[in-house]
Amino acid sequence: MTFKQSDALARVQPSATLAVTQKARDLKARGVDVISLGAGEPDFDTPDHIKQAAIDAIKAGKTKYTAVDGIPELKAAIVAKFSRENGLDYSTGQVSVAPGGKPVIYNALVATLNPGDEVLFPAPYWVSYPEMVRLCGGEPRCIPAGIATGFKITPDQLEAAITRNTKWFIFNSPSNPTGAGYTASEIRGLTDVLLRHPQVMIMTDDMYEHIVYDGYEFATIAQVEPRLFERTLTTNGVSKAFSMTGWRIGYAAGPQDLIAAMRKVISQTTSNACSISQWAALAALEGPMDFIRDRNSAFKRRRDFVLADINAAEGLTAPTPEGAFYIFADCSGWIGKTTPEGAILESDIGVCNALLDEEAVAVVPGAAFGGSPCFRISYATDDASLHEAGMRIRRFAKNLS
Ligand SMILES: Cc1ncc(COP(=O)(O)O)c(C=O)c1O
Repeated sequence: MTFKQSDALARVQPSATLAVTQKARDLKARGVDVISLGAGEPDFDTPDHIKQAAIDAIKAGKTKYTAVDGIPELKAAIVAKFSRENGLDYSTGQVSVAPGGKPVIYNALVATLNPGDEVLFPAPYWVSYPEMVRLCGGEPRCIPAGIATGFKITPDQLEAAITRNTKWFIFNSPSNPTGAGYTASEIRGLTDVLLRHPQVMIMTDDMYEHIVYDGYEFATIAQVEPRLFERTLTTNGVSKAFSMTGWRIGYAAGPQDLIAAMRKVISQTTSNACSISQWAALAALEGPMDFIRDRNSAFKRRRDFVLADINAAEGLTAPTPEGAFYIFADCSGWIGKTTPEGAILESDIGVCNALLDEEAVAVVPGAAFGGSPCFRISYATDDASLHEAGMRIRRFAKNLS
């Protein structure tokens, strides 16, 4: 070792979702027929009109530094999006654009957290929340939600978890990893609690807003309770809805002084998000949305048959997710069992390793998301692979003793 990690980084775990994808990739490179259900991105391509906007931007020489937290045109399109889709009225001075949803969240945390500040979020949670909080010197605190409540927390749980030191409550619906989407009335129960705690700032992560099923109606906190508007940062991005994960554009809107603080962070770290991607994101937000409906019907079809396979496998159960492209399967019925090759399944990490080693199916252990014993399946892949994976998972279940 030629250097010693900083104390802040030493508290951080590397991304487990990336780790499983890498292990699956390594096996594939050795010729194993691995089905990888670990990915956190749509398998669909970026729509052509968005690609064309990027090509046009390159040809027009829009290839230089831009305003630190976003070109005015994109900020105006984001203001229009929040007004049109969420009934939220922001000015362009309340908008921040960064290279992905991940940096948007990080910028907000690094701009606000001091040692000892607590950040609350429901578990299972998106893998990066606790680690980003730690990196910023804060204390992650999670509120556990199990399968009995469809992986959603209750207002009483939120009330009990808030302390004098709670700085932020992060809320992600539909959720990665569970796909659980809160209804407006479920959100209302949480906002009633938050109204009683004026020191708590709220961050909503609305990344999966557009990937929803069965008539589920997306709602976000500042919209459900306008009295929380002043202390809510509403974050979102183009990565999932528009299949633009590689383009790296995320955005947020919220209190002007917070947005200014985030601008200061950006100005001394990444500078602007890629100029070309910003023009592409503008085309995404202002362009047609009908392709999303078609993609969602493909996602829903896959969700339904994968869910049927999971619930048919002995020892597994999963609730029907309202959105995103994940199924979170409870595998407590497998714990303590032995695989044909003699592995004793002691935890969901053991389950995922055995599934990969013995059936060449890659899924992500619930432990990575603060939700054990479970695993996350991403169904953002082709039907044939999903059918084959479902068959292998059922066979794995049947062969346990
Ligand atoms: C819940 C959630 N928030 C934020 C992000 C970050 O998205 P981006 O790729 O734009 O950084 C992801 C990506 O996996 C996510 O699942």
